Amino acid sequence: MSGSLMGRDILAIGDLSKQEILLVLEHAARFEEQCSQTPKLSVLDGRILATLFYEPSTRTRLSFESAMLRLGGGVISVAEALKSSSASKGETLFDAARIVSGYAHVIVQRHPAVGSAQEAAAGATVPLINAGDGVGEHPTQALLDLYTIQRERGQIDGLRICLAGDLKNGRTVHSLARALVHWDVTLTLASPTALVMPAEIVAELRQKGLAVQETEDLAAAMAESDVLYVTRIQRERFADPAEYERLKGSYVVNRALIERTNPAVTVMHPLPRVDEIATDVDALPNAAYFRQADNGVWVRMGLLSLVVE
Ligand code: NCD
Repeated sequence: MSGSLMGRDILAIGDLSKQEILLVLEHAARFEEQCSQTPKLSVLDGRILATLFYEPSTRTRLSFESAMLRLGGGVISVAEALKSSSASKGETLFDAARIVSGYAHVIVQRHPAVGSAQEAAAGATVPLINAGDGVGEHPTQALLDLYTIQRERGQIDGLRICLAGDLKNGRTVHSLARALVHWDVTLTLASPTALVMPAEIVAELRQKGLAVQETEDLAAAMAESDVLYVTRIQRERFADPAEYERLKGSYVVNRALIERTNPAVTVMHPLPRVDEIATDVDALPNAAYFRQADNGVWVRMGLLSLVVE
């Protein structure tokens, strides 16, 4: 029934067709509903998830683990894998994934290098899910972002969506923008000029028919948007700390700005936030980012149930 995703690697959002994305979101909705009645299911009884995180994470790792436990499976985990795994002895990602495949039925990996997920997947003999490869992609975040947009706004088609902040280094916006080509939306990319979305991604989006505009003017973009997706300036990607200092704090969304530009805008953020969304936004009914983080569990349950054999 769910044969099409079974056993597949999920390395980039482009690995999934629109139909497959919708299937994951449908399964997520079903699990959200079921978990309100039954805290633990037995869908993946006896299966084991391995999380290999070579970069910091709170939400992604814990929501994957929570998802697997709620599906009835088990979890083995290496956080701080650069320090605490055999990577510190010089083991390649290929070899590590080959070995962990003997211990688990699915691997979720995060690593600072673009392409690291492909390298590990080549060694893995079980499905490998990319939980972030440097500034590359973060496909499962895009899935939970789509789920959240659907839940908050009823549907995705017809929306005006603004991605704001560090569009150069933010992998979540790279995956989300690529996912949105499947819907009839208009996309505004609002960022300081030093942090614009890579030109090749913008070209790819346009070539696939997405209406994309770029601006530096966040307030004007907010006024014209239904959904505002804010991102953190990715300090860990800056070679020059002075450049980070110059750019940090350049885009701050606070309650006054929302009230002045667009009181009804749905505010999203993959989190963690630093200072780009003021805490006075949290109490607004349209501040969706904490619900968005919660949705990570349902969406990852949906994905794991379809991928793990
Ligand atoms: C994001 C990431 O790791 O790319 N976090 C997440 O997974 N929710 C966003 C970020 O770190 O800014």
